[in-house]
Amino acid sequence: MNEKRSSFTGRIGFVLAAAGSAVGLGNIWRFPYLAAKYGGGIFLLVYLILAVTFGFALMIAEIALGRKTGMSTIGAYSKLNKRFGFIGILGAVIPAIILPYYSVIGGWVTKYLTVFLTGGGSAAAADGFFSAFIGKPVEPLIWFFIYIAVTTVVVMFGVEKGVEKVSKIMMPILVVLTLFIAVYTMFIPGAMEGVLYYITPDFSKFSVTTVLAAMGQLFYSMSLAMGIMITYGSYMKKEDNLEKSVRHIELFDTGIAFLAGLMIIPAVFAFSGGDESALGQGPGLMFVTLPKVFDYIPGGSIIGFVFFLLVLFAALTSSISLMETIVSVLMDKFKLGRKVSCLIVFIFSILLGISSSLGNGIWADITIFGVDFLTFFDFASNSVLMPIVAFLTCIFVGYVIKPQSLIDEVEISGPFKSKRLFTVVIKYIAPVCILLILISSVLNGLEIISI
Ligand code: TRP
Repeated sequence: MNEKRSSFTGRIGFVLAAAGSAVGLGNIWRFPYLAAKYGGGIFLLVYLILAVTFGFALMIAEIALGRKTGMSTIGAYSKLNKRFGFIGILGAVIPAIILPYYSVIGGWVTKYLTVFLTGGGSAAAADGFFSAFIGKPVEPLIWFFIYIAVTTVVVMFGVEKGVEKVSKIMMPILVVLTLFIAVYTMFIPGAMEGVLYYITPDFSKFSVTTVLAAMGQLFYSMSLAMGIMITYGSYMKKEDNLEKSVRHIELFDTGIAFLAGLMIIPAVFAFSGGDESALGQGPGLMFVTLPKVFDYIPGGSIIGFVFFLLVLFAALTSSISLMETIVSVLMDKFKLGRKVSCLIVFIFSILLGISSSLGNGIWADITIFGVDFLTFFDFASNSVLMPIVAFLTCIFVGYVIKPQSLIDEVEISGPFKSKRLFTVVIKYIAPVCILLILISSVLNGLEIISI
């Protein structure tokens, strides 16, 4: 098959498509709770430093790999060196771990959307609403099924384009709304303390875990270390400026994460009455604090509805591209049809996702390495597998195909301003740091996650 790969219409199209994949629950749901839990400002600082060094270099590497080879993950590595094809396969496993639990959270968002739609906003603001909901045996499962079914239908009928168009309109609205909520929240009595917690680094809260968590979040949020960006790169035109595109995708992704934190963390301070333990509550943070903000703002139930609708769209574009990746691997590797592949991924996701959903309720006593299923899958993909894939990618680029080969690729479309930074990070800084962090996390044992 020598079919010409379809390509994006131009640089803006490419940046928006890649940003659409990158911006999702990772930015709005995951980033704020990690920042709250790992010390606020210090987490933000570590994250930003990693984003402009690690994140930048890895994203350049992945997109350039894709554009150079014109192939997606599995093909790209082996085309350049047969022995390293396994990195692509390893990377392709990660979306399969993420998609099921991502859809469980997507189900929670859908539930909140309907709560606000039916005028239940104040009830959702009450203490205990969220934990009572996720602790139920059946209801969260139903929302999860609905969410993953919608994702599957979109991927099955290939109507991603339609969804993407809608989300391109909705994304800017999400940014404006997030900004509005963030500014509004700042003026709630007691919230300023939270703003300070979020933006001033407290170095006494720094630890290896902070770096591990920030690094995992970086890979997750920017959809790195699982080959998705390689696929996107394979659709990119040779004449589009690669370095500039990467800068813009990063800015977009980090900007939205920052705003989401600014919207949620001060609200925790304003509504918890100075109870700092509220900061460490983890995955439920957004669902617990935002309804309180919406209850406080006049007309908040409508704002809440619109907000969760926009978040749902951001989540759907991400879960669709996660599913698409797994489906395309099944289609290419096992020569299966599109519908069959979708069904397989659907059933697999349901089976794996059920454990993540029930782990918050009736299966709370069943734990893996001391944590519930959702936390385990999240940790295994973001803090173990992704760093491994990122490490191998650095070795591959730094020592097997050599950074120069990708620098040449970037330079096809203009000067590569940060090529020295790129080379140093890929060859030395990134592999050494990732290795150190991985080793220390293994030595500290998996309990690290349950802190
Ligand atoms: N980056 C996405 C988010 O922030 C989540 C994600 C991780 C993802 N890997 C992906 C999305 C791959 C699409 C494809 O929510």
